[in-house]
Amino acid sequence: MYFKLLLVFSSAVTVLANLEGPFLFFGPKSLEKFKRPALKYLDQDDLMRIYGEQAAIVVFNNQDSVPLASGNFPRLRKMLEGQTTLVLPQDFLDVHPDYISNETQMLTLQGPWSERDAQMTETFARLQDIYGAGRVLGILGNSVSQSQSAEYPEAGVWARARRQADEATSSESPPDDEKPPRVAPKFALYNATGPPGKSALLYSSGWPELRWANGSTTVLDTPVGEPTVKPTRLYTILVVRFADGDSRDKITLEFSFKQAGGWWQAVGVEVKFGVEPTGVNLKAPAPPDAPAAVLGKAYECSLPLVYSSEEATLTMPDIQMQPYMDSTEKFADAFNCIGFTTVPIWSGLMVTFIMMIALGLSITMILDIKTMDRFENNRSKQLTITVSE
Ligand SMILES: *[C@@H]1O[C@H](CO)[C@@H](O)[C@H](O)[C@H]1NC(C)=O
Ligand SMILES: *[C@@H]1O[C@H](CO)[C@@H](O)[C@H](O)[C@H]1NC(C)=O
Ligand SMILES: *[C@@H]1O[C@H](CO)[C@@H](O)[C@H](O)[C@H]1NC(C)=O
Repeated sequence: MYFKLLLVFSSAVTVLANLEGPFLFFGPKSLEKFKRPALKYLDQDDLMRIYGEQAAIVVFNNQDSVPLASGNFPRLRKMLEGQTTLVLPQDFLDVHPDYISNETQMLTLQGPWSERDAQMTETFARLQDIYGAGRVLGILGNSVSQSQSAEYPEAGVWARARRQADEATSSESPPDDEKPPRVAPKFALYNATGPPGKSALLYSSGWPELRWANGSTTVLDTPVGEPTVKPTRLYTILVVRFADGDSRDKITLEFSFKQAGGWWQAVGVEVKFGVEPTGVNLKAPAPPDAPAAVLGKAYECSLPLVYSSEEATLTMPDIQMQPYMDSTEKFADAFNCIGFTTVPIWSGLMVTFIMMIALGLSITMILDIKTMDRFENNRSKQLTITVSE
Protein backbone atom coordinates (compact mmCIF):
# COMPACT_ATOMS: atom_id res chain seq x y z
CA MET A 1 0.00 0.00 0.00
CA TYR A 2 1.39 3.34 -1.00
CA PHE A 3 0.64 5.13 2.24
CA LYS A 4 3.27 3.03 3.91
CA LEU A 5 5.79 5.39 2.39
CA LEU A 6 4.50 8.03 4.72
CA LEU A 7 5.33 6.14 7.81
CA VAL A 8 8.53 5.52 9.64
CA PHE A 9 8.19 1.88 10.52
CA SER A 10 10.02 0.15 13.26
CA SER A 11 9.84 -3.51 13.99
CA ALA A 12 6.34 -4.29 15.07
CA VAL A 13 7.40 -6.67 17.78
CA THR A 14 9.76 -4.41 19.67
CA VAL A 15 7.46 -1.43 19.42
CA LEU A 16 4.43 -3.28 20.71
CA ALA A 17 6.26 -5.10 23.43
CA ASN A 18 7.14 -1.71 24.83
CA LEU A 19 3.86 0.01 24.38
CA GLU A 20 2.33 1.11 27.64
CA GLY A 21 -0.91 2.65 28.74
CA PRO A 22 -2.94 4.60 29.31
CA PHE A 23 -4.19 4.17 25.76
CA LEU A 24 -6.37 6.37 23.64
CA PHE A 25 -8.50 4.57 21.05
CA PHE A 26 -10.14 6.81 18.51
CA GLY A 27 -12.04 6.88 15.24
CA PRO A 28 -14.82 4.36 14.66
CA LYS A 29 -18.34 4.94 15.96
CA SER A 30 -18.45 1.33 17.08
CA LEU A 31 -16.12 2.22 19.97
CA GLU A 32 -19.19 3.75 21.56
CA LYS A 33 -20.47 0.38 22.74
CA PHE A 34 -17.22 -0.36 24.58
CA LYS A 35 -17.48 2.73 26.71
CA ARG A 36 -17.22 1.75 30.34
CA PRO A 37 -17.44 3.45 33.68
CA ALA A 38 -14.19 5.28 34.33
CA LEU A 39 -11.10 3.24 35.00
CA LYS A 40 -12.45 0.02 33.60
CA TYR A 41 -10.23 -2.26 31.59
CA LEU A 42 -11.13 -3.90 28.33
CA ASP A 43 -10.45 -7.60 28.36
CA GLN A 44 -8.95 -9.75 25.66
CA ASP A 45 -12.27 -10.59 24.02
CA ASP A 46 -13.37 -6.97 23.77
CA LEU A 47 -10.03 -5.94 22.30
CA MET A 48 -10.20 -8.71 19.71
CA ARG A 49 -13.72 -7.66 18.80
CA ILE A 50 -12.64 -4.04 18.39
CA TYR A 51 -9.63 -4.94 16.24
CA GLY A 52 -11.65 -7.33 14.12
CA GLU A 53 -14.19 -4.65 13.19
CA GLN A 54 -11.66 -2.26 11.65
CA ALA A 55 -10.63 -1.86 8.05
CA ALA A 56 -7.25 -0.61 9.22
CA ILE A 57 -5.48 0.10 12.48
CA VAL A 58 -2.71 2.55 13.11
CA VAL A 59 -0.74 2.43 16.33
CA PHE A 60 1.03 5.62 17.35
CA ASN A 61 3.89 4.93 19.65
CA ASN A 62 4.66 8.10 21.50
CA GLN A 63 8.20 7.78 22.73
CA ASP A 64 8.54 9.54 26.00
CA SER A 65 9.49 8.62 29.51
CA VAL A 66 6.24 9.82 31.05
CA PRO A 67 2.71 8.64 30.22
CA LEU A 68 0.59 10.52 27.72
CA ALA A 69 -0.86 13.88 28.52
CA SER A 70 -3.64 15.13 26.26
CA GLY A 71 -2.45 18.73 26.44
CA ASN A 72 0.43 17.91 24.14
CA PHE A 73 -1.69 17.16 21.10
CA PRO A 74 -4.00 20.12 20.36
CA ARG A 75 -4.43 19.29 16.65
CA LEU A 76 -5.31 15.71 17.34
CA ARG A 77 -7.78 16.79 19.97
CA LYS A 78 -9.43 19.15 17.52
CA MET A 79 -9.65 16.45 14.88
CA LEU A 80 -11.21 14.04 17.34
CA GLU A 81 -13.93 16.42 18.43
CA GLY A 82 -16.47 14.79 16.13
CA GLN A 83 -15.17 11.26 16.58
CA THR A 84 -15.57 8.58 19.17
CA THR A 85 -12.72 8.16 21.62
CA LEU A 86 -12.07 5.67 24.34
CA VAL A 87 -9.50 6.08 27.09
CA LEU A 88 -8.17 2.82 28.51
CA PRO A 89 -6.35 3.08 31.82
CA GLN A 90 -4.66 -0.29 31.48
CA ASP A 91 -0.88 -0.64 31.45
CA PHE A 92 -0.75 -3.08 28.56
CA LEU A 93 -2.91 -4.27 25.73
CA ASP A 94 -3.58 -7.94 26.31
CA VAL A 95 -3.83 -8.56 22.59
CA HIS A 96 -1.86 -6.63 20.07
CA PRO A 97 -3.74 -5.50 16.99
CA ASP A 98 -1.22 -7.02 14.58
CA TYR A 99 -2.33 -10.44 15.79
CA ILE A 100 -5.82 -9.75 14.51
CA SER A 101 -5.66 -7.31 11.64
CA ASN A 102 -3.31 -7.53 8.67
CA GLU A 103 -3.79 -3.83 8.04
CA THR A 104 -2.02 -2.73 11.20
CA GLN A 105 0.55 0.00 10.89
CA MET A 106 2.94 1.31 13.46
CA LEU A 107 4.21 4.85 13.67
CA THR A 108 6.78 5.98 16.15
CA LEU A 109 6.40 9.56 17.30
CA GLN A 110 9.55 11.46 18.13
CA GLY A 111 10.67 15.04 18.15
CA PRO A 112 8.95 18.20 19.35
CA TRP A 113 5.36 17.85 20.45
CA SER A 114 4.01 19.99 17.64
CA GLU A 115 5.69 17.72 15.11
CA ARG A 116 4.31 14.59 16.76
CA ASP A 117 0.89 16.15 16.78
CA ALA A 118 1.08 17.01 13.09
CA GLN A 119 2.46 13.61 12.10
CA MET A 120 -0.31 11.80 13.91
CA THR A 121 -3.14 14.00 12.65
CA GLU A 122 -2.00 13.85 9.04
CA THR A 123 -1.43 10.11 9.04
CA PHE A 124 -4.81 9.42 10.53
CA ALA A 125 -6.60 11.75 8.11
CA ARG A 126 -4.80 10.11 5.19
CA LEU A 127 -5.79 6.63 6.30
CA GLN A 128 -9.40 7.72 6.66
CA ASP A 129 -9.28 8.99 3.08
CA ILE A 130 -8.08 5.60 1.91
CA TYR A 131 -10.26 3.30 3.99
CA GLY A 132 -13.22 5.55 4.66
CA ALA A 133 -14.18 7.69 7.60
CA GLY A 134 -14.99 5.72 10.72
CA ARG A 135 -13.28 2.60 9.42
CA VAL A 136 -9.82 3.31 10.80
CA LEU A 137 -8.90 2.74 14.42
CA GLY A 138 -6.18 4.92 15.89
CA ILE A 139 -4.40 3.76 19.02
CA LEU A 140 -2.13 6.09 20.91
CA GLY A 141 0.19 4.58 23.49
CA ASN A 142 3.48 5.39 25.08
CA SER A 143 6.89 3.85 25.17
CA VAL A 144 10.17 4.82 26.68
CA SER A 145 13.26 5.37 24.62
CA GLN A 146 16.66 6.78 25.34
CA SER A 147 17.02 7.95 21.76
CA GLN A 148 15.61 11.34 22.53
CA SER A 149 18.01 13.78 24.11
CA ALA A 150 17.66 17.15 25.72
CA GLU A 151 16.98 18.81 22.34
CA TYR A 152 13.49 19.77 23.41
CA PRO A 153 13.88 21.64 26.62
CA GLU A 154 10.80 21.46 28.74
CA ALA A 155 10.05 22.59 32.21
CA GLY A 156 9.39 20.67 35.33
CA VAL A 157 8.80 17.01 35.61
CA TRP A 158 9.10 16.27 31.92
CA ALA A 159 12.69 17.36 31.74
CA ARG A 160 13.47 15.76 35.05
CA ALA A 161 11.94 12.45 34.12
CA ARG A 162 13.81 12.43 30.87
CA ARG A 163 17.09 13.29 32.55
CA GLN A 164 16.62 10.43 34.97
CA ALA A 165 15.87 8.11 32.12
CA ASP A 166 18.95 9.28 30.27
CA GLU A 167 21.17 8.88 33.27
CA ALA A 168 19.95 5.40 33.94
CA THR A 169 20.46 4.20 30.39
CA SER A 170 23.65 4.03 28.47
CA SER A 171 23.15 5.36 24.96
CA GLU A 172 23.78 1.92 23.42
CA SER A 173 21.36 -0.17 25.43
CA PRO A 174 18.00 -1.14 23.94
CA PRO A 175 15.06 1.09 24.78
CA ASP A 176 13.13 -1.49 26.73
CA ASP A 177 15.73 -1.50 29.51
CA GLU A 178 14.38 1.67 30.97
CA LYS A 179 10.89 2.28 32.20
CA PRO A 180 9.51 4.92 34.45
CA PRO A 181 8.41 3.45 37.75
CA ARG A 182 4.83 2.47 37.23
CA VAL A 183 2.47 3.99 39.73
CA ALA A 184 0.55 0.97 40.89
CA PRO A 185 -1.32 0.67 44.17
CA LYS A 186 0.81 -0.97 46.81
CA PHE A 187 -1.87 -3.52 47.62
CA ALA A 188 -3.63 -6.24 45.70
CA LEU A 189 -7.40 -6.28 45.17
CA TYR A 190 -8.68 -8.90 42.77
CA ASN A 191 -12.33 -8.41 42.00
CA ALA A 192 -13.81 -11.05 39.74
CA THR A 193 -17.44 -10.95 38.81
CA GLY A 194 -18.65 -14.37 37.75
CA PRO A 195 -22.01 -16.11 37.54
CA PRO A 196 -24.23 -15.43 40.58
CA GLY A 197 -22.83 -17.22 43.60
CA LYS A 198 -19.46 -17.66 41.94
CA SER A 199 -17.92 -14.20 42.17
CA ALA A 200 -14.81 -13.73 44.24
CA LEU A 201 -12.86 -11.00 46.00
CA LEU A 202 -9.32 -11.27 47.24
CA TYR A 203 -7.44 -8.50 49.01
CA SER A 204 -3.89 -8.38 50.29
CA SER A 205 -2.08 -5.42 51.79
CA GLY A 206 0.94 -6.23 49.62
CA TRP A 207 1.69 -7.76 46.24
CA PRO A 208 1.91 -11.53 45.90
CA GLU A 209 5.51 -12.68 46.04
CA LEU A 210 6.64 -15.83 44.30
CA ARG A 211 9.83 -17.31 45.74
CA TRP A 212 11.56 -20.23 44.03
CA ALA A 213 13.50 -22.92 45.85
CA ASN A 214 16.69 -21.54 44.27
CA GLY A 215 16.08 -18.21 46.01
CA SER A 216 14.96 -16.11 43.05
CA THR A 217 11.89 -14.02 43.73
CA THR A 218 9.22 -12.51 41.50
CA VAL A 219 6.94 -9.80 42.84
CA LEU A 220 3.64 -9.81 40.97
CA ASP A 221 2.96 -6.08 40.99
CA THR A 222 1.39 -5.49 37.57
CA PRO A 223 -1.97 -7.21 37.14
CA VAL A 224 -3.15 -7.11 33.54
CA GLY A 225 -6.78 -6.99 32.48
CA GLU A 226 -9.54 -8.00 34.84
CA PRO A 227 -9.53 -11.01 37.10
CA THR A 228 -12.05 -13.64 36.05
CA VAL A 229 -13.81 -16.60 37.64
CA LYS A 230 -13.63 -20.04 36.09
CA PRO A 231 -16.11 -22.47 37.64
CA THR A 232 -15.14 -26.13 37.23
CA ARG A 233 -16.87 -29.23 38.49
CA LEU A 234 -14.88 -29.45 41.71
CA TYR A 235 -13.49 -25.99 42.19
CA THR A 236 -14.20 -22.34 41.60
CA ILE A 237 -11.09 -20.71 40.28
CA LEU A 238 -10.12 -17.04 40.51
CA VAL A 239 -7.83 -16.21 37.60
CA VAL A 240 -5.53 -13.18 37.79
CA ARG A 241 -3.00 -12.37 35.11
CA PHE A 242 0.20 -10.37 35.49
CA ALA A 243 2.73 -8.86 33.14
CA ASP A 244 6.00 -10.77 33.13
CA GLY A 245 8.60 -8.05 32.91
CA ASP A 246 8.82 -6.75 29.36
CA SER A 247 7.89 -9.97 27.68
CA ARG A 248 4.58 -10.40 25.93
CA ASP A 249 3.86 -13.50 27.97
CA LYS A 250 1.85 -13.33 31.10
CA ILE A 251 2.08 -14.98 34.49
CA THR A 252 -1.28 -16.35 35.58
CA LEU A 253 -2.32 -17.12 39.13
CA GLU A 254 -5.28 -19.45 39.50
CA PHE A 255 -6.58 -19.49 43.07
CA SER A 256 -8.83 -22.48 43.62
CA PHE A 257 -11.61 -22.76 46.19
CA LYS A 258 -13.92 -25.59 47.03
CA GLN A 259 -17.14 -25.76 48.94
CA ALA A 260 -18.51 -28.53 51.11
CA GLY A 261 -21.06 -28.77 53.89
CA GLY A 262 -21.88 -25.08 53.89
CA TRP A 263 -18.25 -24.03 54.11
CA TRP A 264 -15.79 -22.83 51.56
CA GLN A 265 -12.07 -23.42 51.71
CA ALA A 266 -9.04 -22.17 49.78
CA VAL A 267 -7.31 -25.15 48.23
CA GLY A 268 -4.31 -23.91 46.35
CA VAL A 269 -2.94 -21.77 43.59
CA GLU A 270 -1.55 -22.73 40.21
CA VAL A 271 1.13 -20.49 38.70
CA LYS A 272 1.24 -20.60 34.91
CA PHE A 273 3.72 -19.02 32.55
CA GLY A 274 2.79 -17.76 29.11
CA VAL A 275 0.59 -20.17 27.23
CA GLU A 276 1.94 -23.33 28.86
CA PRO A 277 -1.07 -25.47 29.75
CA THR A 278 0.25 -26.66 33.10
CA GLY A 279 1.91 -24.64 35.78
CA VAL A 280 3.34 -25.02 39.22
CA ASN A 281 0.83 -26.19 41.82
CA LEU A 282 1.11 -24.62 45.25
CA LYS A 283 -1.03 -25.77 48.15
CA ALA A 284 -2.80 -23.68 50.73
CA PRO A 285 -1.95 -24.48 54.37
CA ALA A 286 -3.68 -27.64 55.58
CA PRO A 287 -6.71 -27.34 57.87
CA PRO A 288 -7.12 -25.96 60.50
CA ASP A 289 -4.89 -23.21 59.08
CA ALA A 290 -6.45 -23.24 55.61
CA PRO A 291 -8.38 -20.10 54.77
CA ALA A 292 -11.99 -21.12 55.18
CA ALA A 293 -15.33 -19.73 56.31
CA VAL A 294 -19.01 -20.39 56.20
CA LEU A 295 -20.52 -19.67 52.77
CA GLY A 296 -21.48 -16.02 52.61
CA LYS A 297 -18.72 -14.98 54.98
CA ALA A 298 -15.21 -13.74 54.27
CA TYR A 299 -11.96 -14.91 55.78
CA GLU A 300 -9.31 -12.54 57.04
CA CYS A 301 -5.91 -12.96 58.58
CA SER A 302 -3.21 -10.57 59.62
CA LEU A 303 -0.59 -13.29 59.30
CA PRO A 304 0.85 -13.83 55.82
CA LEU A 305 -0.82 -16.55 53.79
CA VAL A 306 1.75 -18.88 52.25
CA TYR A 307 0.87 -21.23 49.42
CA SER A 308 3.71 -23.68 49.03
CA SER A 309 5.19 -26.68 47.26
CA GLU A 310 8.67 -28.10 47.07
CA GLU A 311 9.46 -25.89 44.09
CA ALA A 312 8.19 -22.52 45.23
CA THR A 313 6.10 -20.49 47.65
CA LEU A 314 3.63 -17.69 47.06
CA THR A 315 3.25 -15.27 49.96
CA MET A 316 0.51 -12.72 50.45
CA PRO A 317 0.56 -10.51 53.54
CA ASP A 318 -2.53 -9.56 55.50
CA ILE A 319 -5.23 -11.10 53.40
CA GLN A 320 -8.97 -11.05 53.13
CA MET A 321 -10.81 -13.31 50.72
CA GLN A 322 -14.29 -14.46 49.86
CA PRO A 323 -15.35 -16.75 47.01
CA TYR A 324 -18.88 -17.87 46.12
CA MET A 325 -20.29 -14.36 46.34
CA ASP A 326 -23.42 -13.05 44.66
CA SER A 327 -22.15 -9.50 44.50
CA THR A 328 -18.56 -8.40 44.78
CA GLU A 329 -19.40 -4.98 46.08
CA LYS A 330 -17.80 -5.59 49.46
CA PHE A 331 -16.62 -8.32 51.76
CA ALA A 332 -19.18 -9.82 54.13
CA ASP A 333 -18.36 -10.18 57.82
CA ALA A 334 -15.15 -12.06 58.17
CA PHE A 335 -13.96 -15.11 60.04
CA ASN A 336 -10.62 -14.23 61.55
CA CYS A 337 -7.77 -16.68 61.48
CA ILE A 338 -7.06 -15.90 65.13
CA GLY A 339 -9.42 -18.43 66.70
CA PHE A 340 -9.96 -19.47 70.32
CA THR A 341 -7.09 -21.88 70.52
CA THR A 342 -4.04 -19.74 70.09
CA VAL A 343 -1.14 -19.59 72.55
CA PRO A 344 -1.85 -16.08 73.87
CA ILE A 345 -5.45 -16.94 74.56
CA TRP A 346 -4.55 -20.23 76.25
CA SER A 347 -1.91 -18.61 78.44
CA GLY A 348 -4.33 -15.85 79.36
CA LEU A 349 -6.92 -18.41 80.41
CA MET A 350 -4.26 -20.36 82.32
CA VAL A 351 -3.11 -17.36 84.32
CA THR A 352 -6.68 -16.43 85.17
CA PHE A 353 -7.34 -19.99 86.33
CA ILE A 354 -4.28 -20.07 88.61
CA MET A 355 -5.22 -16.72 90.10
CA MET A 356 -8.76 -18.00 90.78
CA ILE A 357 -7.41 -21.04 92.64
CA ALA A 358 -5.06 -18.88 94.67
CA LEU A 359 -7.86 -16.47 95.50
CA GLY A 360 -10.19 -19.34 96.48
CA LEU A 361 -7.55 -20.88 98.77
CA SER A 362 -6.78 -17.62 100.49
CA ILE A 363 -10.47 -16.91 101.13
CA THR A 364 -10.98 -20.34 102.72
CA MET A 365 -7.84 -19.80 104.81
CA ILE A 366 -9.08 -16.45 106.04
CA LEU A 367 -12.46 -17.97 106.93
CA ASP A 368 -10.68 -20.69 108.89
CA ILE A 369 -9.00 -18.28 111.30
CA LYS A 370 -10.51 -18.74 114.80
CA THR A 371 -10.70 -15.70 116.95
CA MET A 372 -10.40 -15.88 120.74
CA ASP A 373 -13.58 -15.68 122.85
CA ARG A 374 -11.93 -15.35 126.24
CA PHE A 375 -9.29 -13.02 127.51
CA GLU A 376 -6.71 -13.23 130.28
CA ASN A 377 -6.85 -11.02 133.38
CA ASN A 378 -4.91 -11.00 136.65
CA ARG A 379 -7.76 -12.41 138.75
CA SER A 380 -8.49 -15.64 136.97
CA LYS A 381 -6.00 -18.32 136.28
CA GLN A 382 -3.85 -18.31 133.25
CA LEU A 383 -5.47 -19.34 130.02
CA THR A 384 -4.22 -22.47 128.40
CA ILE A 385 -4.78 -22.75 124.73
CA THR A 386 -4.96 -26.24 123.43
CA VAL A 387 -4.55 -26.62 119.79
CA SER A 388 -6.26 -29.65 118.48
CA GLU A 389 -5.81 -30.60 114.90
C1 LIG B 1 -3.86 -11.89 6.84
O1 LIG B 1 -2.96 -12.36 5.86
C2 LIG B 1 -2.85 -13.78 5.81
C3 LIG B 1 -1.77 -14.14 4.80
O2 LIG B 1 -1.59 -13.15 3.88
C4 LIG B 1 -4.19 -14.40 5.47
O3 LIG B 1 -4.09 -15.80 5.45
C5 LIG B 1 -5.20 -13.97 6.54
O4 LIG B 1 -6.47 -14.47 6.22
C6 LIG B 1 -5.26 -12.46 6.64
N1 LIG B 1 -6.09 -12.11 7.79
C7 LIG B 1 -7.00 -11.15 7.76
C8 LIG B 1 -7.76 -10.94 9.00
O5 LIG B 1 -7.19 -10.50 6.77
C1 LIG C 1 15.13 -20.36 39.75
O1 LIG C 1 14.20 -21.33 39.30
C2 LIG C 1 13.19 -20.82 38.42
C3 LIG C 1 12.23 -21.93 38.11
O2 LIG C 1 12.79 -23.18 38.23
C4 LIG C 1 13.83 -20.23 37.17
O3 LIG C 1 12.85 -19.69 36.34
C5 LIG C 1 14.82 -19.14 37.58
O4 LIG C 1 15.48 -18.65 36.45
C6 LIG C 1 15.82 -19.68 38.57
N1 LIG C 1 16.65 -18.56 39.05
C7 LIG C 1 17.96 -18.66 39.27
C8 LIG C 1 18.63 -17.43 39.77
O5 LIG C 1 18.56 -19.72 39.06
C1 LIG D 1 -15.92 -5.11 42.16
O1 LIG D 1 -16.40 -4.84 40.87
C2 LIG D 1 -17.79 -4.58 40.83
C3 LIG D 1 -18.23 -4.48 39.40
O2 LIG D 1 -17.26 -3.89 38.63
C4 LIG D 1 -18.09 -3.32 41.61
O3 LIG D 1 -19.46 -3.06 41.60
C5 LIG D 1 -17.62 -3.52 43.04
O4 LIG D 1 -17.78 -2.37 43.79
C6 LIG D 1 -16.15 -3.92 43.08
N1 LIG D 1 -15.81 -4.28 44.43
C7 LIG D 1 -14.80 -3.73 45.14
C8 LIG D 1 -14.57 -4.22 46.51
O5 LIG D 1 -14.09 -2.88 44.65
